[in-house]
Amino acid sequence: MIDKVYCVDVIPEMEGKRVRLAGWVYRKREVGRKVFIVLRDSTGIIQTVFKKELSKEAYTKAKKIGIESSVIIEGIVKADPRAPDGVEVQADRMEVIQNVDFFPITKDASEEFLLDVRHLHLHSLKVATILKVKGAMMQAAREWLLQNGWYEVFPPILVTGAVEGGATLFKLKYFDKTAYLSQSAQLYLEAAIFSLEKVWSLTPSFRAEKSRTRRHLTEFWHLELEAAWMNLWDILKVEEELVSYMVQRTLELRKKEVELYRRDDIKTLKNAIPPFPRISYDEAIDVLQGKGVQIEWGEDMGADEERVLTQEFEAPFFVYGYPKHIKAFYMKEDPSDSRKVLAADMLAPEGYGEIIGGSQREDSYEKLVERIKEEGMKPEDYGWYLDLRRYGSVPHSGFGLGLERLVAWVLKLDHVRWATLFPRTPSRLYP
Ligand code: 4AD
Repeated sequence: MIDKVYCVDVIPEMEGKRVRLAGWVYRKREVGRKVFIVLRDSTGIIQTVFKKELSKEAYTKAKKIGIESSVIIEGIVKADPRAPDGVEVQADRMEVIQNVDFFPITKDASEEFLLDVRHLHLHSLKVATILKVKGAMMQAAREWLLQNGWYEVFPPILVTGAVEGGATLFKLKYFDKTAYLSQSAQLYLEAAIFSLEKVWSLTPSFRAEKSRTRRHLTEFWHLELEAAWMNLWDILKVEEELVSYMVQRTLELRKKEVELYRRDDIKTLKNAIPPFPRISYDEAIDVLQGKGVQIEWGEDMGADEERVLTQEFEAPFFVYGYPKHIKAFYMKEDPSDSRKVLAADMLAPEGYGEIIGGSQREDSYEKLVERIKEEGMKPEDYGWYLDLRRYGSVPHSGFGLGLERLVAWVLKLDHVRWATLFPRTPSRLYP
């Protein structure tokens, strides 16, 4: 038997060669005594044509086959300028693995229905494109992290406390105790820098947030970095270099896929080259007020405010120097202004807003205890974390990037849920 090839392998230069393809029926049309079947596999699509005079048996099977049926097709490659990509397969054999009479997803399916049948929606070429781009972005991240001396670590998901506020913790029974699903690996990464200095992890993070926005999931993939001996400005350089590499490398690895979504509208992606613009929180508030947005100094920026702010930029940018009371307990107080913390978010342009949250961490034991108490939490719940400030404490900084948010911006998706295999939102736990 001849070896199986993938759709992408069939090129005009293979003219006259016999090939065997396996995949799913993507499109089908009959013209006279010919049946055209566009076959789909993980690499793309290829046109196959069944003619009665070539094989009556294969032709009859092709006539009957339904969309999304799984099949194995054999035939001879023929260069043909009229075919998509200038090549097709003149098929003389079809093995039907499983015939599908009716595929539930039709052209006019609503978004909600597509999510209800997400397991079948994954057949879509456009969905596959997003999955490939997401994979490419992590491949790029790994390349950069490896080239720059970062160690990958594997933190726990079952945890005992909050990183980003108790209100959004998913609680579960852990034998006779209570455990939570991790909101962020940060505290564990902080522990790991005392041996590995520069560490990173990719984990699912969970947030029991009822917010039904275009940028919230209850489960998302979190790329987090933490480094000893770095201050806020050092970690911002890491952030912009990493994000720039992820975006530019993805444009190399998956240009066709990115263009399927953005066409030639890739200016903001091309612009993602360090240094990214930096504006202070104070400046951001001035800009917003100047544009008539109702916001006072000290208030947090939500998605709406961030969207307005992103109109000022055509590349990702940083907002730094947030007020202390709207940020997490672990952030280091700004020594030059005790109302603020040494924190910065990275925002994506075109309305997308926050894709990274990061900061320098409080490295003083006393100050951290004070902050934990101020936030109404108990220092004894953070015993091991406080120990990190008692045994060889160092200045250190880190950040977390929401992978789905980055992918949503890169592909200009209208919701982060399209950037994940099986989205989890307040109303969706199935399939
Ligand atoms: O700003 P966040 O909450 O920061 C942290 O969790 C830090 N402990 C990370 C760290 O410093 N190691 O979340 C970081 C990023 C956000 O910028 C956003 O991209 C993403 O995680 N994110 C979400 N993505 C999708 N759905 C949600 N509900 C998200 N919450 C945060």
